[in-house]
Amino acid sequence: MMTKLYETCATVLVVASVLFSTAALAEKNPKLHQIRKVNAVLFEPGDFGKFLVATYSGIYSISGDGSAQHIAPKAGGLTELIRHPEQPNTLLSSGYRSKTEKLGVMRSQDGGKTWQLLSKGANNPVAFHAMAYSPSKPSLIYATGVGKELHASWDGGLNWEIVGKTPEQVFDITVSRTDPNQVFLATRVGLFKSANGGKTWSSAHPVKRTTTMVNVTAGGSVLAFIYGYGLVTSGSEDTLSWKKSPTNFVDRAIMNIAINPTKPSQMLGVIDTGAVFVSEDHGKSWKSFEGQDYATSERVTAGRNLYEENCAACHGEKGVGEISENGSKVDENGLPLAPAMNDSAHAWHHHDEQLIGTILNGSPRNERMLPWKEHGVTRKDAESLVAYIKSLWNFRSLACQGSRDMSCMH
Ligand code: HEC
Repeated sequence: MMTKLYETCATVLVVASVLFSTAALAEKNPKLHQIRKVNAVLFEPGDFGKFLVATYSGIYSISGDGSAQHIAPKAGGLTELIRHPEQPNTLLSSGYRSKTEKLGVMRSQDGGKTWQLLSKGANNPVAFHAMAYSPSKPSLIYATGVGKELHASWDGGLNWEIVGKTPEQVFDITVSRTDPNQVFLATRVGLFKSANGGKTWSSAHPVKRTTTMVNVTAGGSVLAFIYGYGLVTSGSEDTLSWKKSPTNFVDRAIMNIAINPTKPSQMLGVIDTGAVFVSEDHGKSWKSFEGQDYATSERVTAGRNLYEENCAACHGEKGVGEISENGSKVDENGLPLAPAMNDSAHAWHHHDEQLIGTILNGSPRNERMLPWKEHGVTRKDAESLVAYIKSLWNFRSLACQGSRDMSCMH
């Protein structure tokens, strides 16, 4: 398990050469789930139905239906994206221009559309993978790259200094709501806290495993993700008493999080596979952003009823797949039996639209899978069926859905 995350996180941290050789997205207006790797997510201030994502090919603006507008395609291979706590149009980012060239610290003053180089960093151009404003003193910014150095700027990102060593490689960083010297680090060996601006560190959670995300919420609670353990929250940032959320994340990790400032129960999470998830209950339960509008409990129930009536005869109770009486794997025509719809087969290798398409139009390879639109199944029914089918999948299958299965094959 551990090795897997090291590999995954290594690809997040050491921007692998593949990222720049990947062909650009073929489609002009892709959907969020078609964007290969999302590194950071931020709600839009004026319109919380929208959010920005930083990717290895610049910035996209995402609408509630998942459609992605490429607002800054040339901004570079971006590894982080943060917003000024008091000036909503001011954003900072960092990352890579090419395989070998680091971007330094980039600033946008128009909400992410245009970007300028603000600073190279302390010495040579930096590629910060984690950055955080101090909410109570926004001229102060902390940042880390792939090394074990903590960088800080006291003038909004123009000049940088290396203020100290971090205990280990850092995945995420956050600053107290009220105290500019209180800093949290999510590192390869656990969560750490500093009370003196990063000069010294102490352990902040008893589980000393790779911690990939940390965030102090507007309400002053701390949220962190510990790989192989789960999402933990502490009601206060001073007396750290932790609670663990009930979701089983299997072998996936939340790398970055955005909390809706007008509705703090609502969060977006970026998973290590690059998929974006939504939580409506402070992070207790999560659903994939893809198909989130029809993944309601009413639609899942409607989908289950349709499934039991029309599909279970072949695809089995709860999607276990067709099991023949004589143990054969093919039907009387030598064609494969109805595949499992739970996460034991390949259903999760398909995006929602592909599953909906198969349900409505049938299979060109096997006439036993009917074109259900000719048998009274509407588009809305097909969506409900997919919502039900996805409710049978675990977190891992949801995070690996569609073309992301390639990043889940270690
Ligand atoms: C008479 C048996 C039968 C029934 C009933 C049936 N299917 Fe299928 N289904 C199949 C077979 C066989 C395949 C494999 C087709 C192929 O290999 O191309 C399949 C394939 C699929 C696939 C594609 C899976 C993949 O991994 O590519 C989906 C999705 C699906 N069915 C959903 C449904 C739903 C939803 C219903 C109910 C509305 C349904 N099926 C009813 C036999 C059936």
